[in-house]
Amino acid sequence: MNLQRMPLVLIPIPPDFINSLRSARRVAVLTGAGVSAESGVPTFREAQTGLWAQFEPTDLATPQAFERDPQTVWEWYAWRRELVARAEPNPGHLALAALETSLNRRGAHFTLITQNVDGLHQRAGSQNVVELHGNLSQTKCSREDRVVESWPPTRRVPPPCPHCGALLRPDVVWFGEALPREALAAAERAANESDIFISVGTSGVVEPAASLPFAALEHGAIVVEINPEATPLTPLAAHVLTGPSGAVLPDLVKAVWPEG
Ligand code: OAD
Repeated sequence: MNLQRMPLVLIPIPPDFINSLRSARRVAVLTGAGVSAESGVPTFREAQTGLWAQFEPTDLATPQAFERDPQTVWEWYAWRRELVARAEPNPGHLALAALETSLNRRGAHFTLITQNVDGLHQRAGSQNVVELHGNLSQTKCSREDRVVESWPPTRRVPPPCPHCGALLRPDVVWFGEALPREALAAAERAANESDIFISVGTSGVVEPAASLPFAALEHGAIVVEINPEATPLTPLAAHVLTGPSGAVLPDLVKAVWPEG
């Protein structure tokens, strides 16, 4: 979406949501690419600007693509890694880190579940982060699945694994692959146990992450959505804050704890 063309609007935070956050014991937040959009990191499914509007996921984000053309896949992820390295956390990331600090200070538990692989939440100061789709900055062996920190300089693209010689690959989840088991279990636990679940900047169409807000709903959580556009969750959310997360999240944190 073109944020520059969006009118400046104040998004009212519903008072009963403010009160629920003040008294919450367990809060879970699910983020998607939209939370990093204001850092200049492209989303996936938005018309024109989304990565999947410009590139074919089956050419770049599947194990079959890597088998067919490992060099193109490696180079595409290297390009994204550089893009993310130049990006900075935006006020939305910073507000989520502040939300965690404020809740923890009051004895409440906070889990940030992210589908993003850009590491911007951690760079903003978030502590309890569950990465469902891996992390761009990590590399793993395509045969043994183990994370590889470094390898000898080489002209080969992708470089070979220093332990077994198989190709190295980015430590991200591709279509058709299982999510890291511990991360998924932690995310499901956080969703099921949350009394407030906030879905931010995700189109909510990629499973299993897409089911987390619905699991939270079934377990009785107050489910809130922050997104400039409607998603499949919108009709079921208790509150929908329609706007960019870089504006809504700081306003939310200020509204809940004006004293900081
Ligand atoms: P999508 O590109 O599908 O959705 C991005 C969402 O962010 C949309 O709903 C937008 O309306 C919203 N959005 C855009 N700008 C925003 C802003 N400033 N503030 C808040 N929201 C904004 O991205 P994801 O839902 O993250 O998986 O996609 C899920 C997964 O599909 C990704 O993790 C990736 C992708 O294929 C893998 O690569 C495995």
